[in-house]
Amino acid sequence: MSAAIEVMRHHRSIRKFTEQALNDEQREAIMASAQAASSSSFLQASTVIRVTDPELRARVMALCGNQAYIGSAAEFWVFCADFHRHLQWVPEAKTGFAEQLLIGAIDTALMGQNALTAAESLGLGGVFIGAVRNQPHELCDLLALPKGVIPLFGLCLGYPDQNPEPKPRLPTSLIFCDNRYPAQFDEERMQRYDEQVQQYYRTRTGGNKNMSWTGQIGETLAKEARPFMLEFLHRQGFCLR
Ligand SMILES: Cc1cc2nc3c(=O)[nH]c(=O)nc-3n(C[C@H](O)[C@H](O)[C@H](O)COP(=O)(O)O)c2cc1C
Repeated sequence: MSAAIEVMRHHRSIRKFTEQALNDEQREAIMASAQAASSSSFLQASTVIRVTDPELRARVMALCGNQAYIGSAAEFWVFCADFHRHLQWVPEAKTGFAEQLLIGAIDTALMGQNALTAAESLGLGGVFIGAVRNQPHELCDLLALPKGVIPLFGLCLGYPDQNPEPKPRLPTSLIFCDNRYPAQFDEERMQRYDEQVQQYYRTRTGGNKNMSWTGQIGETLAKEARPFMLEFLHRQGFCLR
């Protein structure tokens, strides 16, 4: 089809890296690709903090559930939604709207995905880290994130030291619909997908994990995630109105 489609269709998160560093040319190409993403109203409401200081990286890792690959990846970048910059340049700008949280999150996510795809096209691998939102107050202090800035996700990048199979996605016909939301969902397809995911986990873990997709979302959605989030958003000046 095309080289870009090949890269995207073979995506899988990488959580084990060699010690090899990225060179400047690779890093700059990934950054430029990230910045080339579209931006709502051209607000460019994002800032990315590259955590290069090993001591700081270790402290960030501790705030992110001690996921070891945050420490061992060649690069660790924290993607933030940012309206602080706008307020610096245009102090009369009105911020704090819920819509702006969506704008910042969407712009920044598009950048993150461009960055990972660009890295994968260079033979590198990576994984996003939502755990940067585990202790967001502490992370803001560590990275000196001012009001108007919130960390959304991290990105580990480096040379893969593992080669996992791509994870099976929901059937395309369940995700893409024509014209209207489907009146009922296709139970039979869901059951087949559950079996496929169970098989994937059994193979990947040598039989240690045998979880279906339904089982996994049942566990994930059984409790409120990060119950402090609304208060944190308010403190940072987001979602006030
Ligand atoms: C916003 C976001 C946050 C994520 N956070 C984590 C994380 O903290 N730790 C982790 O190991 N994987 C994390 N992941 C990776 C997902 O677990 C992974 O993308 C998903 O299981 C699908 O697997 P794949 O990327 O290999 O296709 C995150 C993914 C996204 C998009």
